[in-house]
Amino acid sequence: MIEVMDEPKTTAVMPTPAREPLRRVGPPPAGEQPALLIERATKKFVVGRKKKSVIAVNEVTMSIRRGEIYGILGANGSGKSTLIRLVSTLLTLDGGRVEVFGNDVERDEMKVKQLINRVSVDAAFFKKLSPHENLAYAARLYGLDARKARAEAITILARLGIGEKRLSRPLEQMSRGMQQKVAIARALLTSPTVLLLDEPTTGLDPRSKLDVQTFIEEVRDSHDATIVLTTHDLDEAERLCDRIALINDGRMVAEGTPAELMAMVARDYAKAPTLESVFMTFTGKSLDDDHDDDKNEDDEEQ
Ligand SMILES: Nc1ncnc2c1ncn2[C@@H]1O[C@H](COP(=O)(O)OP(=O)(O)OP(=O)(O)O)[C@@H](O)[C@H]1O
Ligand SMILES: [Mg+2]
Repeated sequence: MIEVMDEPKTTAVMPTPAREPLRRVGPPPAGEQPALLIERATKKFVVGRKKKSVIAVNEVTMSIRRGEIYGILGANGSGKSTLIRLVSTLLTLDGGRVEVFGNDVERDEMKVKQLINRVSVDAAFFKKLSPHENLAYAARLYGLDARKARAEAITILARLGIGEKRLSRPLEQMSRGMQQKVAIARALLTSPTVLLLDEPTTGLDPRSKLDVQTFIEEVRDSHDATIVLTTHDLDEAERLCDRIALINDGRMVAEGTPAELMAMVARDYAKAPTLESVFMTFTGKSLDDDHDDDKNEDDEEQ
């Protein structure tokens, strides 16, 4: 539970005793409710003039434990963002189910919305407004008391290294890395929370990238947050994630801790495998390869 919160703002489904270490690795043990349960989730899109059906997410199953940082690693077009959107109720499932702390994304959509936060700097912010104003807006959206939320926002940001002075300037005057941090802080106004970070560091310069990665670790260690992040960055996945799922063409092809994944392919490599060799083994491609829908369509037309 966040220290600064004198009363929980959403009904905590499973209250955590104060000071319990939140770092937990591995799937939830039997009897423990997962923070996020995804069972055979499937999503199809109809694309192009020929109305071709693309299966963006294909029977994906994962069970994520409260307090974990869980990484979804896949090449462009592999279905990462679609999966995140399904969890955040922005898209509806064509098959399977998704539950957040036992709440079904379709039946209990409002409850799920209170428990999850999809952090996307571009979509979630008013750039002309300051971090303060943005956080106050978010607080209203979540039905929190504005004055309390303001005090909490200051405390959360201060604990995470952003001083009060910086909070009154328009967001557009802050670096992207800083904006990303404010976006994450905004998501911490509610607790417990499942943070969905879709490529939180893509496009950041190396310094800001490192900053945001450290920030994510701090959030994991200091808040009651379960973090699901997507990335193409192998080093980032290895550094941050307790467990990683490899996604290829909408399917999950492997899952485990970075060490487990490397052990799975160790016998195929003379020297110690890297996460990159794990990815190559399971997907048959490099992370830089693009998935190209249009190419197939053109081929068909020839
Ligand atoms: N709204 C949509 N309409 C039609 N097709 C879509 C839509 N959103 C995604 N797709 C298709 O679904 C597949 C998965 O896309 P998605 O954006 O989930 O991949 P991604 O792994 O997030 O890729 P990236 O790394 O580029 O962000 C792709 O083939 C994409 O073209
Ligand atoms: Mg994406």
